[in-house]
Amino acid sequence: MPNSDAQTVIETPADVADRYALEIINVSKHFDDVAAVNQVSLSIDKGEIFALLGGSGCGKTTLLRMLAGFETPSAGDIKINGVSVLHSPPYQRPVNMMFQSYALFPHMTVEQNVAFGLKQDRMPKAEIEVRVTEVLELVQMTRFRRRKPGQLSGGQQQRVALARSLAKKPALLLLDEPMGALDKKLRMQMQLELANIIESVGVTCVMVTHDQEEAMTMADRIAIMDQGEIMQVGAPRQIYEFPNSKLTAEFIGSINLFEAVAAFDVASGGAAPCRLECAELPCTVVSNETDSRFAGPCYVALRPEKISLETSLEPADNNWVRGKIDDIAYLGSHNVVHVRLETPAGKTKIVQVHVSNFARHAKSLDFEQAVALSWEPEAVVLIKAEAA
Ligand SMILES: Nc1ncnc2c1ncn2[C@@H]1O[C@H](COP(=O)(O)OP(=O)(O)OP(=O)(O)O)[C@@H](O)[C@H]1O
Ligand SMILES: [Mg+2]
Repeated sequence: MPNSDAQTVIETPADVADRYALEIINVSKHFDDVAAVNQVSLSIDKGEIFALLGGSGCGKTTLLRMLAGFETPSAGDIKINGVSVLHSPPYQRPVNMMFQSYALFPHMTVEQNVAFGLKQDRMPKAEIEVRVTEVLELVQMTRFRRRKPGQLSGGQQQRVALARSLAKKPALLLLDEPMGALDKKLRMQMQLELANIIESVGVTCVMVTHDQEEAMTMADRIAIMDQGEIMQVGAPRQIYEFPNSKLTAEFIGSINLFEAVAAFDVASGGAAPCRLECAELPCTVVSNETDSRFAGPCYVALRPEKISLETSLEPADNNWVRGKIDDIAYLGSHNVVHVRLETPAGKTKIVQVHVSNFARHAKSLDFEQAVALSWEPEAVVLIKAEAA
């Protein structure tokens, strides 16, 4: 449910409170002369799983800590269910933060760990019993309730930490690198499991990760962060298919980027597809883009799986180049093939292509083999050069 849906409707403050679990309004955080978070604004829907994705040091944890109340913003406001929490200490916010290390108490059993926060809130004992049983059931840890964290696997510890975070029924669940301590295979299994549990509870969740696959698997929407700022916000598919900058294009998945100059046929009123001359590609590129704001210097971006590789060399007019195989990596489900092109500028350029292992020629590819690459106009994404 992107925010843009709401822009044409006039909303009263009550509507906004009803719609958004969390509003981050122009929030900045400075540590001395470092702007760890710089004028970030985000509105997060109730029940949404939202991922903050970015490289090390881009400000993800700092933003999360401000939501939890462990850090005070230098500027801006944070509202939960329409109410500013800026002056509320962490324990008064309807928020629970699950840390990377899970921070389970090693001397307590699973059920004591889960009950801890409820006891502190002086919930009656019988109610605690019921609630602990409920959340342990939810994360399928009932049969381990009397064990201590040291007697559990990484994935099981993580489920206990999640149970403890959900026990107090927070309005907002914050996860900082939730899979950080798990190995790759378990991580992928837990991503789906965790997302299912969060969705079944209906809690709004903001998670931090630097793993793009994790963000794509779990989140309804993703914000790409860089140097304290939000670069792009969108559904995983939207960010993958329509990156708005060189940075987001390179951050999510693999991509081939070529410097280009875009020309639009003005006489057609912008309806004709765009033609691009690339110093780095020995062909004219035609794209389906009709938005003339892309006119001038830009990047042509092509995902490796959207390029077709053929061994028979049938020439075409546009979107077609010859090259030689420079490298092949077998990755099981597909091959990553690096193809070397001679560019019009007399340099070489390596293009990455994914070739499915079902393809009839997948087995017969060899180093230095002559191949032809081609792609459809709709595969071409244009990125304005100044947005790089
Ligand atoms: N308490 C602090 N005092 C001074 N600088 C800090 C403090 N906390 C964070 N920073 C700085 O703020 C920036 C953002 O840090 P933050 O921990 O939010 O990054 P991150 O995106 O979570 O990175 P990572 O992926 O490595 O965990 C960094 O440059 C960091 O050095
Ligand atoms: Mg961090």
